[in-house]
Amino acid sequence: MSYVKHFEFAQRFMPGGVSATARANAALGHPLYLERGDGARVFDIEGHEFIDMCVSHGASLLGHDHPAVTAAVREALAQGVICAYETEDHARLAEQVVEMVPCADMVRFAGSGTETVMHGLRLARAATDRRMVMKFEGHFHGYSDLLNYSVAPPIDMAGPAERPTPYPESAGMPPDLARELVVLPFNDVESLERAFRTHGYETAALFMEPINYDSGCIVPLVGFIERCRELCTEYGVVLFFDEILTAFRMHRRCAQGYLGVTPDLCAIGKAFGGGLPISALAGTRAIMEHLRPIGDSEMSGTYLAHLTAVKAARAALREYARPGFFETLNARADRFYGAFQQAIDRSGVRVRLQHVGPRFGLYFGVDGPVTNYREAATQDRAMLMTFIAACFERGVYLAVSPHHGFSAAHGDADLARVADVFEAALQEVRRAHLGDERGAGG
Ligand SMILES: Cc1ncc(COP(=O)(O)O)c(C=O)c1O
Repeated sequence: MSYVKHFEFAQRFMPGGVSATARANAALGHPLYLERGDGARVFDIEGHEFIDMCVSHGASLLGHDHPAVTAAVREALAQGVICAYETEDHARLAEQVVEMVPCADMVRFAGSGTETVMHGLRLARAATDRRMVMKFEGHFHGYSDLLNYSVAPPIDMAGPAERPTPYPESAGMPPDLARELVVLPFNDVESLERAFRTHGYETAALFMEPINYDSGCIVPLVGFIERCRELCTEYGVVLFFDEILTAFRMHRRCAQGYLGVTPDLCAIGKAFGGGLPISALAGTRAIMEHLRPIGDSEMSGTYLAHLTAVKAARAALREYARPGFFETLNARADRFYGAFQQAIDRSGVRVRLQHVGPRFGLYFGVDGPVTNYREAATQDRAMLMTFIAACFERGVYLAVSPHHGFSAAHGDADLARVADVFEAALQEVRRAHLGDERGAGG
């Protein structure tokens, strides 16, 4: 089947021809329609092969069709497609999470990250008996009406930099909800302290991506999340790490282990399930026991923790817990970023590369370090679009997303190939946007 034909067909029955907005690809003019995936590669419906640098928006950290994950799913199916029942595996998986995630005394599983984070907010409100919420501009916490604010606001609608105006990311969000939200600039201690002085005692939770991949890859400046931790403790606010994307990404103890700061509650997802749909809320016993049936905060559902996903997550965590797993992944990442940075330097194209572990952000037209959303928003998106399309033509797939990355199935040879393709794509960017073909040295 050709793209043209299938895209036409899909659009007749599905808005935009996709099941999720993030799967539309404006750089290509059509979504990627897949036949299958295998390790570092995906194969599309026209028979083209791509090295996958989206890896299911981060979910397939073990690559596609990892044998341990596939075997776990088969095992679950052989038990009779168990749905909406508890098994021994559920508590065993919770035990694995408690062993690996620093803040976790107890765990409740759900499906999507959106669902888990939304329940996390309800739980934080129940545990504190407070309503206000603080979040950082440029940080993404799923699509719920409660938190889908100021992720990528147009700058002319974003309000003052030191006190951003909550910007709803979708039509249809009830405007009243924004009254309970304080949006803050990331990495700005002064604004943070001011917000706590004003709203600290009425705030239920401070939400954050401990590494802000959803604005590319922005790391907390020295002392910033330590200060967040101190203020939350002082004012009795729940410190909530949204680790949907960062969990088991660069460290077996997630970003909280990597950064050495322990929140009160966290959400883990994506890589957690090895490609199957599962996420989890994890936190201190004192907070988690506010969940029903012990406490009175509701979190339930027919499809929470389907056994296929539970077994897949158990298999994935065993892989992440293997000695050397993250050392190998991070060493490979360093070699890849080294080669890519050299290609950037040779190209004469201004593009800032920021990375932690196997995920990275690219900011075209930006030179200096990017430390918050406002700086990220100065990037030239048209250049990024050209870059993504040029990579696609050369057999490397990137989604239109602030962050990109690879899996443990990507070997050094795959990543060397990606670095070569990136170099050729930078030349294409140079031709299209800067009007000549020469690299900096040429
Ligand atoms: C930090 C963060 N939180 C929440 C979500 C939402 O997760 P899901 O797509 O599973 O609903 C995402 C997804 O991209 C994410 O990156």
